[in-house]
Amino acid sequence: AHLVAGAKIADRSIVAAVADFTGRVLGEATVPLSGRVQGTEALARDIAAAAAKAAEAAGTGLAGLSGLGAALAGIVDAEAGIARWSPALERRNAPLRAALEAATGLPSFIDNDANLVAMAELYFGEGKGIADFLVVTVESGVGLGIVLGGRIYRGIRGSGAEFGHTKVQIDGALCRCGQRGCLEAYVADYALLREAALRPGPHPGDPQAGMAQLLAQARSGDPMAASIVARAERIFAMGLANLVNIFDPQLIILSGELAQHDYLYDEKVIAMVAGQTVQAGAPPPEIRVHRWDDLMWARGAAAYAIEGLAARALAGL
Ligand code: BGC
Ligand code: NA
Ligand code: ZN
Repeated sequence: AHLVAGAKIADRSIVAAVADFTGRVLGEATVPLSGRVQGTEALARDIAAAAAKAAEAAGTGLAGLSGLGAALAGIVDAEAGIARWSPALERRNAPLRAALEAATGLPSFIDNDANLVAMAELYFGEGKGIADFLVVTVESGVGLGIVLGGRIYRGIRGSGAEFGHTKVQIDGALCRCGQRGCLEAYVADYALLREAALRPGPHPGDPQAGMAQLLAQARSGDPMAASIVARAERIFAMGLANLVNIFDPQLIILSGELAQHDYLYDEKVIAMVAGQTVQAGAPPPEIRVHRWDDLMWARGAAAYAIEGLAARALAGL
């Protein structure tokens, strides 16, 4: 069988899957990142190691694969194979595709992580058979994949669909992208934890534990914790309403691991969205929650490798 690898660069690890051309996963592996922010070659080596381990689990090696797809946070020019900016990389304009091809010897393809979750939804998930839908992800950052006419829309420079960096506040909170007032700077885990760190401790060092503590405090009526969480909910709802007002999609999928983001997906938030969408004379689009783990992001990356190989074959390369 023809096999490809897909890899998702998460916060602290890389999750890789080896799949056949129908997207069936035959092997998977998780390896820790050597550094949370690193050089292009170093990241490529980590990705190659994860792909090799997944290949081994599928009973082969890197040389038994036809291609590799990688999903990473940030602005990715998929066409050019350049990561313009990523929280996982030290430099801007990193030639990650070339580094991956050198590290693996495989035709390689890179794209924004949320775009590839949308691709997984389109081929294998809730988006099957739906032409126009949006996939919003909330994990360490806030991501978006736009599917229009059954295809991922990336923008002219590959910098489209950066929902997390839409502006919601003049001179607002500092975002990890370097700008101020981004939606993500009020909704992402790191933003909430930064606010929580201003209150008296103790503060768990682990982000997941920190989020769990903050949410428990908010639920128990702690006013500061409750206001941090309530603001995140209101800004998230406002952002979703803006997406509806721009795209009028058939469906919005809230995708990703989500386990600790349940507070963003309750009836209250959905009602806030409905209250801010333009009155179209019909109910607003359905907002559906789809819990996926990082393996599914990797599966989207594998699907992207298959697409990339097919496009190359059609172009006669
Ligand atoms: C990045 C996006 C990414 C999202 C989820 C954001 O901070 O800018 O490109 O899709 O996080 O990882
Ligand atoms: Na995206
Ligand atoms: Zn930003």
